[in-house]
Amino acid sequence: MAGPSNEAELARLVRAHDRWRGSSVLNLLASENAISPTARRYLSSDLAGRYTLPHPPRDGEPGSDNDYGGTRYTDAIEALANAAAARLFHGRFATTRPLSGHIAAMAALVPLLPRGGRLLAIPPEAGGYDGYAPGYLPAIFGWDARPLPTEGPERTLVAEVAIEEIRREKPDVVLLGQSRFLFPYPVTAIAEAAHARGALVLYDASHVLGLIAGGEFQDPLREGADIVYGSTHKSLPGPQGGLLVTDREDLFAQIDPALVWRVLDNAHWNRIAGLARTLLELERVGPAYARTVVANAQGLGRALEDRGLPMVGSALGFTRSHQIHVDPDALLARHGLRPSALARRWEKQRLITDLIGRIGTAEIARLGLLPSDMPRLADLLVRAGLRSEKVGSEVLAWRRSFRSLAFL
Ligand SMILES: Cc1ncc(COP(=O)(O)O)c(C=O)c1O
Repeated sequence: MAGPSNEAELARLVRAHDRWRGSSVLNLLASENAISPTARRYLSSDLAGRYTLPHPPRDGEPGSDNDYGGTRYTDAIEALANAAAARLFHGRFATTRPLSGHIAAMAALVPLLPRGGRLLAIPPEAGGYDGYAPGYLPAIFGWDARPLPTEGPERTLVAEVAIEEIRREKPDVVLLGQSRFLFPYPVTAIAEAAHARGALVLYDASHVLGLIAGGEFQDPLREGADIVYGSTHKSLPGPQGGLLVTDREDLFAQIDPALVWRVLDNAHWNRIAGLARTLLELERVGPAYARTVVANAQGLGRALEDRGLPMVGSALGFTRSHQIHVDPDALLARHGLRPSALARRWEKQRLITDLIGRIGTAEIARLGLLPSDMPRLADLLVRAGLRSEKVGSEVLAWRRSFRSLAFL
């Protein structure tokens, strides 16, 4: 039944969520992060309800940047966001309008890859993003999606393998990027092979965008990718959304005008203001933030492995990103557990991960955890996950000791 009781129930649920996820758990989800207080304030500013839209020439009127009145500040806010994105990711052209990483992928692919065009992308079983699998975006837009294989349990992309696939499949677009993303790609070699055959190289940095912003991981555009895009809320600690950057004017001239009415309409200006703030913060603190995130991931991988939780990639130092991965086969063989069972045990003890064995260190770096804290965190994860110990009150006390965010 609708009415005040539902409104009270809603208020209770939001309060309870805020208390639970906002201050009572350690969040180790690789897809999430903590937004700075200022960016959060912008999210609930008056911008949250406003519109602005360009319009093409029509009805004898010339085109304009904006069809709506009252927008004297929104264009300037967007310009700040786009300029910061362009500087951080080393391209001359940027848009922060995509509403998410998925929408940013559409923003790039819809104008550049015609129906019947061939897309070479890492498949979900190799850690690729599900959206690029044949049943999803390719099914909607009529693209011919082919798998780009990776190697080993780390799901690394090897230059020779990728180049061979490019030769064999003759794609129009080579799409780099993974949801399970541990190591940088040999972008230069892949881009050379792709460009020699007239293919574009798109880099989906959804997971690693914050690391790239901080000068860690890799620099896709300078290494030869044509476009970099991704989510703004995973390793990049911004509001949920997306952005896209390129150094190629010819591509941007196809992408930017095609956004409105093909991929999206209103671009959510409170989000863009919050994102602008996050990008400007990263220009100041990005390198220290990204270094800490990666050092935490490497340290946590080592500490977990040393305590008997099998992790992927120990011979390679576990990771160069914000993610580390539980080794599911070794976990089952040694402990009779699947990653999902581990995650359920952890959640009961206030340690939040996903059910596929990814552990992320971006949000804990924002909280203030340092590499020297990783042995303590590993102890808690191993005690809760492998020994079913009740560590929830220890986690809560530790979480509550972090009163403000780091890297602001
Ligand atoms: C590699 C990759 N690309 C795109 C997306 C979609 O991002 P969003 O949730 O921002 O739409 C994800 C989401 O997890 C992802 O992992």
